[in-house]
Formats: sequence, C-alpha cells, structure tokens
Amino acid sequence: MKFITVDSYEKMSRMAANLIAAQLLLKPACVLGLATGSSPVGAYQALIDAHRRGELDFSEATSVNLDEYVGLDGAHPQSYRSFMNTNLFDHVNLPKERTFVPDGRAADLERECREYDARIASLGGIDLQLLGIGLDGHIGFNEPDDRFLKPTHVVRLHESTIRANARFFDSEDEVPRQAVTMGMGAIMQARKILLIANGAAKKDILQKAFFGDVTPQVPASLLQLHPDVTVIYSEV
Ligand code: GLP
Repeated sequence: MKFITVDSYEKMSRMAANLIAAQLLLKPACVLGLATGSSPVGAYQALIDAHRRGELDFSEATSVNLDEYVGLDGAHPQSYRSFMNTNLFDHVNLPKERTFVPDGRAADLERECREYDARIASLGGIDLQLLGIGLDGHIGFNEPDDRFLKPTHVVRLHESTIRANARFFDSEDEVPRQAVTMGMGAIMQARKILLIANGAAKKDILQKAFFGDVTPQVPASLLQLHPDVTVIYSEV
C-alpha cells in the first residue's frame, strides 16, 4: 500500500486525477469504478479540465459507480446518478450509456443487485476503483458489520452515515435509510484501488483502516489485503 499525505485538497485532487488519467491513457477502454461524496469532486473537476484542454479522452471507457440511495430516482438532485451527471458525466465524453449506477428505484432490488454484479463481471471487472471513506470506515455503503459482504447488496444505513450525509439534504429526515452498494467482492477484485480522504475528521478512521486490525467492523480495513492500493490523504 502507498499512503501519501498532502497538504491541500487541491493537491489530493490533482494527484488522484493524474492517476485516473494515467489509467485512461494506458488503457482507453478501461472500466473505472467511481465514487460520490465531497472527496472526489475536485478530482472530477481536474479530469474535466484535462478533457477540455484536449488531454483526456473518455470515449472508449466505461464506468460503474459504487452505490445509490434506495428510493431516489436518477433525476432526484441528491441521487448519486444525478451527482455523477453534474460533477463529471455531463462534462466529459464518456458515453452516458456506458455509465452504470445501481438503480435505487428498481422494483426488484435483489435482482438489481445480482444484475449489477453480473454486469461488472461481463465488463471484465474494474481496472481502477476510486473510493472515499465514511467516518465509520464504510466504503461505498459497506457499513460496519460482523462479516464482509461480497456481493452487491441492499444495506440499512447507520445513524452516523445518515447524520453525515444529511448536509446534502434539506433535513436529516429526508436522507434515505437504505442504499444499494457494490459489495467488498467487486471492490477487492478491482485491479487498482485509489482511496482519497481529506480533513482532520478522517484521520482516526484512516489510522484504524490502514494500520489497525483487518475487521468487518471497519470495512475499509480489508483493503490492507489488496495488492495495489494508493491512499491520498489531505489533512486540510
Ligand atoms: C458516502 C458515500 C461514500 C463516500 C462517503 C464519504 O457515504 N456512499 O462512497 O466515500 O460518503 O463522503 P465524503 O467524501 O463526502 O466524506
């Protein structure tokens, strides 16, 4: 594992964008695993800037997102589909039909989960998975549990996650209580993993996740067993 500490959100974002750009240049038809949250917004902006300068072509790539809230339509401003459109997809030439986000409104969510895993498998797996980390150590929406869940699944969000994500909604009551998340299986099978985090509040959980015990109580700790993980942390 490479653990890189930088001193600004901007540097973290630029470094992350460079690694994603390198993946695209190395293998234009790659599968990018993408994440939401405030951590990747700067990296996405840097990718958009590079694309606008004519340095980056997404036309052959495919993306699979980590997660989506149950019950939110893709058009809902707080859905992760909408987040991805606004923060990346609407501004680069990644064909929309090859951008996959779980459908949180699927009538049969179990089936949606199975099909999401089948889709990732049919794409040949993920080349580079971008991750953030929740304050409780969740990645995607894999919440602390007594076991690591491999497949894509429906998860009940923990109170601390609902509280943390309430800032994006008008009130805490509006935060969906459930989500569909890619499981630890597809994440761990990604060929490369890039986790970004910023702010003093994330320091303790990063310490636990990357230098503590590997335990499903800290889902991100499983990444210690992955052969190609880069963590970029900005303390501010
Ligand atoms: C949400 C997302 C995660 C993300 C986490 C941290 O819970 N499901 O994928 O990593 O938030 O978000 P932030 O980057 O805003 O701290």
